[in-house]
Amino acid sequence: MRRKLAAGNWKMNGTAAALSELVELAGHLDPNDAETLICPPAPLLYRACEKTRGTSIAIGAQDCHMQTEGAFTGDVSASMIADTGASYVIVGHSERRDAHEETNGDIRKKARAAWAAGLTAIVCIGESGDDREADNTLDIIAGQLSGSVPDGATGDNTVIAYEPIWAIGTGKIPTLAQIIEVHDFIRARLIARFGDVEGNAIRLLYGGSVKPDNAAEIFTAENVDGALVGGASLKASDFAPIIKALSAS
Ligand code: 13P
Repeated sequence: MRRKLAAGNWKMNGTAAALSELVELAGHLDPNDAETLICPPAPLLYRACEKTRGTSIAIGAQDCHMQTEGAFTGDVSASMIADTGASYVIVGHSERRDAHEETNGDIRKKARAAWAAGLTAIVCIGESGDDREADNTLDIIAGQLSGSVPDGATGDNTVIAYEPIWAIGTGKIPTLAQIIEVHDFIRARLIARFGDVEGNAIRLLYGGSVKPDNAAEIFTAENVDGALVGGASLKASDFAPIIKALSAS
């Protein structure tokens, strides 16, 4: 049984005032709920960990550098993230693949750096609108999976987030059949590469315009083990019903 995971990616949103949302969110949760994770901007990581101490909310970062230390002005290493108390890091988000020209090879190295620091890597993959229209979705996904996910991935050290780029922040979501097709495909590829045990243990998240009113349907898909939520994770009042829908699925 894979433990369900509701992950919120705050992106470049929030200052200290936003930490009150974590306290409010914790108040909505009970021990039977899905695992809940918030990934705030890096300057808030330590304070977010302090605020959520003793609650069921885990904290993660949105990116890490692939090296352990050195002359990389402005970057943050995986061990620095772990040192704040965080336990997860997102790598390879499409916004970083795009705006920072990150390659599959970079993302693979970042995932390894995350593991070395004891963090679980959430590796993001997803096709563009053009790829989808040209019917290239599964080829793109296969290439990103083999290129971005390092050898040695397990259910403990890796989560895969499928985020179609055209669905991020747009209010558009794939049909349930499209979500099922891609998640089943990812599951089959993971089993083929990592074997039955780990291939079945790695959790798969759907991301892209997940909202309180569409979450329950998305979570009916067998290989959707949770969600990576952007906009709707910023407010506890929006994220809590998504977590509840996941917990009930
Ligand atoms: P939205 O939920 O705002 O579409 O963002 C999805 C996302 O990119 C999460 O990483």
